[in-house]
Amino acid sequence: MPITIAIDGYSSTGKSTMARQLARELNYRYIDTGAMYRGVTLWAIRQGLFEKKLDVAGLIESLSELRLNFKYDRDQGQSVLFLNDEMVENEIRSSKVADRVSEVATISEVRRFLVEQQQAMAKDGAVVMDGRDIGSVVLPDADLKIFMTADPEIRAQRRFEELQSKGMPETLSAVRQNLKMRDEMDTSRADSPLVQVEDAKVLDNSEINPQEQLKLALSWVREIEGH
Ligand code: DC
Repeated sequence: MPITIAIDGYSSTGKSTMARQLARELNYRYIDTGAMYRGVTLWAIRQGLFEKKLDVAGLIESLSELRLNFKYDRDQGQSVLFLNDEMVENEIRSSKVADRVSEVATISEVRRFLVEQQQAMAKDGAVVMDGRDIGSVVLPDADLKIFMTADPEIRAQRRFEELQSKGMPETLSAVRQNLKMRDEMDTSRADSPLVQVEDAKVLDNSEINPQEQLKLALSWVREIEGH
């Protein structure tokens, strides 16, 4: 029987690598909820809502005009985000979005707007979803919950290399600072902060490679399937 897998954790701990690996291995759908918060942030920037400080009321009001979808892209071999029918997968990874997304993610109306869509996407199971509040809020009944963590310096280095390889160079210290700021905002916000729920399996991948982490996660999946 297909199960539902929730993956939460700090930024740049390899949640999406893990989620993609599992989805491919199990033939499940992968839903990247961080991409959806990034999509709302890009929308807010484009609407000019970040001129001085974020116009929260304006953003909430404009949500009804915003449509987010994932579609499979042959060239990239994965599903990518569309904002009102425009492919924005690359733009949502830029630092102009990364620097502002945590603030957007504190807005309860934005969270409600996205959580509702995320729950609808997962209702038939066979899904791997990653984010910050998946095991706690979006899918509290998920069959397997994984909480990912890693040493902050290793995370910064990985993120730095990832941005370089995508042709979006940033200094290591800027990456470090952005991660620190996001950790603080993600864990301290009032609505749906990042928490390690009691029934989550903790995966610290500071010292293990993607193959080893996949093996470990698959052993947890098999355990659940065996019950
Ligand atoms: O996973 P990511 O780095 O793409 O997420 C971008 C931001 O969105 C991150 O700073 C926290 C926020 N986020 C959230 O609040 N809840 C989620 N379920 C996913 C992401």
